[in-house]
Amino acid sequence: MVEVNELHKDYRVGKVLFPALRGVNTVIQDGEFTAIAGPSGSGKTTLLNIIGCLDSPTSGTVYIDGTDTGTLTTREKANLRKNQIGFVFQTFNLIPVLTAFENVEIPLLLLDTKTDENKDRVVGILEEVGLAEYLHRKPNEMSGGQQQRVAIARALVKRPSLVLADEPTANLDSTTAREILELMQELNRKFHTTFVFSTHDQLVMDYAERIIGLRDGMIVDDKRKETPA
Ligand SMILES: Nc1ncnc2c1ncn2[C@@H]1O[C@H](COP(=O)(O)OP(=O)(O)O)[C@@H](O)[C@H]1O
Ligand SMILES: [Mg+2]
Repeated sequence: MVEVNELHKDYRVGKVLFPALRGVNTVIQDGEFTAIAGPSGSGKTTLLNIIGCLDSPTSGTVYIDGTDTGTLTTREKANLRKNQIGFVFQTFNLIPVLTAFENVEIPLLLLDTKTDENKDRVVGILEEVGLAEYLHRKPNEMSGGQQQRVAIARALVKRPSLVLADEPTANLDSTTAREILELMQELNRKFHTTFVFSTHDQLVMDYAERIIGLRDGMIVDDKRKETPA
């Protein structure tokens, strides 16, 4: 489903090129629940952004469901993101003036689905993440954990095959982080959605089925667990 070959990313800082990814190779299968683990600065965000077509590599290829994303036009990349990929961010990235319902509805407004079906899908996924009572709350009327649940509902409402989550629990206390991980795990099992999340937190790694270790822009480790938490 996701195949990454010899991925390099250099950032230019003034006259200097900084190599953030230095030859990353991996394959992530459909339905995996995988963590990309590494310290701050190891290249996790860069890798997720390139897999999600939010950024381009300096060299190397990313295939999503057999499509070489490097050959896509900007519009085709936007379509791929819109139809197949959901994003969850460390800082939730909800729109403050919109309610939970309205935030989750946004991805559907970008698709050509019918609006009466949209309402059911939005309510359905908000129920799925345990927020049936919070449809009309705005982000600042919810806890961090509730906001991240809204963000997860927003990522999943269009039933993407792939969800990329960049340190999704970094701004949550450990109890709430556990709840969010259990929710993502439940959604992964129920919908067979592939989850790739980055982290530097052991708690998060405990939940992963597979941990890809990243250091200084290179994969240094790749372990699968028989029995994740
Ligand atoms: N836009 C940028 N310009 C220059 N350097 C960057 C940029 N984004 C990230 N970097 C550098 O690339 C390295 C990897 O960053 P990042 O992918 O954000 O790592 P992580 O998410 O693991 O903390 C870091 O050393 C960071 O400083
Ligand atoms: Mg990061």
